[in-house]
Amino acid sequence: MNNIVLCGFMGCGKSSVGRIIARKLSRDFIDTDSYIESEQNMSIAQIFEQFGEAYFRDIEHRACATLADKSGLVIATGGGALTYERNVITFKNDTVIFMDIPFDEIERRIGDNNSRPLFRDKRKARELYERRLPLYRSAADLTVTAAESKEKMADKIIGIVRVR
Ligand code: S3P
Repeated sequence: MNNIVLCGFMGCGKSSVGRIIARKLSRDFIDTDSYIESEQNMSIAQIFEQFGEAYFRDIEHRACATLADKSGLVIATGGGALTYERNVITFKNDTVIFMDIPFDEIERRIGDNNSRPLFRDKRKARELYERRLPLYRSAADLTVTAAESKEKMADKIIGIVRVR
């Protein structure tokens, strides 16, 4: 069984929606950031601070490759993962869903939460968002736009995965 892989910008709800999808489909859920944090025994912010982004991207790629080897999972990826071709290739046999949420909504949801190294400067985060949109679109098999709630978003994703 293919994995269902959620991609999209930081704060678009990949982890919370992914958890709901997994529960509804009786699948296991895994979040690449949490996987990396428990493997490295460090937070993502600490990894960025101590070793830099390039190092993080390498371990993120290894995490994607390990998880893509499994089947039937619901996987929430970090916001940068599917903007790298090597990770898109890694998940080529899975169903990749882009959660397309407007930046203003993302900004509202994240607020002043400072835990994301690439969201500390909101102007830069908006630029990054604009740059990444076409990459998410081309990485994904399917795109889902915002729903009224996380529960509804999960139902929308389950619906389009079923008819695929
Ligand atoms: C990143 C997003 C984060 C995390 C890291 C880098 C990005 O994950 O992987 O801080 O490049 O957009 P979330 O999308 O879960 O916040």
